[in-house]
Amino acid sequence: MTVTSSDLDTGTGYGRPASRHDARLTEVGPGTPMGEALRRYWHPVASSSGLTSDLPHRVRILCEDLIVFRTRSGRPGVVFERCSHRGSSLFYGRIEEDGIRCCYHGWKFDVQGHCLEQACEPDRGRRRDVARQPWYPVEERYGLVFVYMGPPELKPPLPRYEFLEDLEEGEMYVSELPVPHGKVTGALIDFNWLQAFENAMDPVHATWLHYEHSGPQFDGVGTTGAPHSFYDPYSVSDKIEYFKTDHGVGYRQRYEVEQPDGSTVTRYWSPEVHVPNIILLPDFVKVVPDGRHDCVLFDVPVDDTHHRAFMTARTSDPDRLARITNSIKQNGKQPWELTEEEHQRYPADFEAQGSQGPVTQHSEETLATSDKGVVMLRRLLKQMVDDVEAGRTPQNVDLGEAKPRRTTAGHFTEGVTAPVTGS
Ligand code: FES
Ligand SMILES: [Fe+2]
Repeated sequence: MTVTSSDLDTGTGYGRPASRHDARLTEVGPGTPMGEALRRYWHPVASSSGLTSDLPHRVRILCEDLIVFRTRSGRPGVVFERCSHRGSSLFYGRIEEDGIRCCYHGWKFDVQGHCLEQACEPDRGRRRDVARQPWYPVEERYGLVFVYMGPPELKPPLPRYEFLEDLEEGEMYVSELPVPHGKVTGALIDFNWLQAFENAMDPVHATWLHYEHSGPQFDGVGTTGAPHSFYDPYSVSDKIEYFKTDHGVGYRQRYEVEQPDGSTVTRYWSPEVHVPNIILLPDFVKVVPDGRHDCVLFDVPVDDTHHRAFMTARTSDPDRLARITNSIKQNGKQPWELTEEEHQRYPADFEAQGSQGPVTQHSEETLATSDKGVVMLRRLLKQMVDDVEAGRTPQNVDLGEAKPRRTTAGHFTEGVTAPVTGS
């Protein structure tokens, strides 16, 4: 039988070009466009309370292998992992009053990499000043230890957030993630940072993945959380509005809540992301509208195929982070408790985002209306990369004094608190 060209279905997989990821958006090593752009910002590397003077910690950030530690006198430091003598790992080093000492021959470095002593050398090292351990500036704020890995002459002040300033009586910053191995250096996740970050501007996935596909996964759905109607997939796109903010992108999702007296109120759930990798997420577990936003999440690139999640919250509840991070249940369990079959039957964020691949293949995507927030965010990130390449100062780098930033994120009741407006 002869097949005419009009009968041919050319949508088969045969002969497709090789897929590829967008390296300008995803690759973070030294000298890459995104890597250089991200080096213009401070990034969290450890929880302040988790980082004790007991042992040093490995933390790979932006494709660089680093050690974070706190001296016995209390100063946090970040240095290269390989000792500048003959390359042993400072992970096996000993923390002392004023620095960290390598296990191999006893060279000791302070938090700025100065060699304080070369134990086995004559006079403890007559030329110890030439042995400089590469280091990075570190500062602590809001319960996190931050590192700056960019050009020293362009180091901005550490950013401040209005909603995290000035603790009230009984409040504290909580930043030790209550997940296995996440207490000190955040939660290590084995796929590219951007997949997790742009997920924050993908609101319809909550409706489909976390509700329709796998059954209601958020603690409190229909009771203390959002009502079931919040998750209706066939009306959700009409209820979401995306907008640019002073520092990034936000959206607000409208929903109605029935009151005990039979009336309804309209509420807006409104997360925001700030360039380059910061998520401001209202509490979706116990949904308290009109309260102050109090929590911030960072997706820090480890390398091109891994990232670390760090979080801090101002709170009087020491279990605040546990309530959020453990609040998405899969068949009533935490991700690390699932069988392979349960992963398949009840997928959540890690299954959906992780299965996009170590780095998603952008050339294979088919973007649609509900990807608007993702597209807006990618545009801002591309602008950031372009700006750095062109020698301009990128968004959210304030080289002068750090003014506390305002966020639009929150959870608002119409008529009680003004919902955010687009710009
Ligand atoms: S390799 Fe570190 S002191 Fe020799
Ligand atoms: Fe999710």
